[in-house]
Amino acid sequence: MKIAVFSTCSYDQEFLERYNTGHELFFFKQALNFDNVLLTKAFDAVCLFVNDCADEQVLSALRENGVKLVLMRCAGFNNVNLEAAEESGIRVLRVPAYSPEAVAEHAIAMIMTLNRKTNKAYNRIREGNFSLESLMGFNLHGSKVALLGTGNIGKAMYRILKGFGCLISAYDPYPDVELQRDGLIYTSLADALTDAEIVTLHCPLTDQSFHMINEQTLKYFKKGAMLINTSRGALVQTSDVVNSLKSGQLGYLGLDVYEQESALFFHDLSGEVIQDDLIARLISFPNVLITSHQGFFTREAMQQIAEITFSNADAFANHENLINEIKS
Ligand code: NAI
Repeated sequence: MKIAVFSTCSYDQEFLERYNTGHELFFFKQALNFDNVLLTKAFDAVCLFVNDCADEQVLSALRENGVKLVLMRCAGFNNVNLEAAEESGIRVLRVPAYSPEAVAEHAIAMIMTLNRKTNKAYNRIREGNFSLESLMGFNLHGSKVALLGTGNIGKAMYRILKGFGCLISAYDPYPDVELQRDGLIYTSLADALTDAEIVTLHCPLTDQSFHMINEQTLKYFKKGAMLINTSRGALVQTSDVVNSLKSGQLGYLGLDVYEQESALFFHDLSGEVIQDDLIARLISFPNVLITSHQGFFTREAMQQIAEITFSNADAFANHENLINEIKS
């Protein structure tokens, strides 16, 4: 098949070329949107990532251009209008799980960095400052952690946090029986938030979960609690979180995703003035750690993403069962 790959970075090209099962690949650096959808003329498929736009308008243009397949090289699909895809007769396949440990381990790295301030210690030591002032953390052992979402990544997180000796509770509309058997207690969202020193988000972005962390739910947080979001930016109402940090209600914030990330993340903007005042404000806080959607970014995950993307493409090309298809 002839596949147009959007939002290509050097590492995408490297892994997709290495694991290609014989398709004709064309790499575009830009994210797909209505302004550049003409590029897809005469392609059989497009291969998209988290910040490409596949809304109704784009999908209808894709159909006119002859595209029959959207290959998401990620798990989340909130950027694809599935109803519009079905109406256009375009099939949408994704990579449902690829090394959930990669994202869970990154969430842990964020917790450890915010807590033990190793980023600050690193800079201090390089300047010959060996003082411990303001570097005090807390023991993870015995700390209460709320997992919001216990799917593939939430489960990986549960296993790691258990190893640390954390006291874990969870909120998920679909509790996992295996985890319950292992002793995990599911509660209401409010109860999970009220009790926790650390709240970590591992649920998809849906109409129900949109801005689930907002002014109202932030009031349930324990004073000084830590919030970690490695899932999707719009799970969090960012300006409410800024106010909560300013008042001291929220004690730490770790974000690997951001609601307006498409204009920023994955790009080198070091020579430019950041136009997004909200992220500029967040960057200025000493108790905020932001990474640029890198939770998935390990060698193992990149290999699995490439392999599953091509097995999806092959299944479509060979009219086989599409096990990774997503429907509305
Ligand atoms: P999954 O589909 O295996 O699990 C999601 C869980 O969330 C399910 O158990 C579901 O019942 C639960 N859930 C649904 N709505 C909920 C709600 N309103 N409140 C609480 N729980 C809810 O998904 P997986 O693989 O664990 O991934 C979770 C999310 O992580 C993805 O949707 C994606 O947005 C994000 N992600 C981020 C990456 C990164 O690089 N930062 C990489 C991969 C995924």
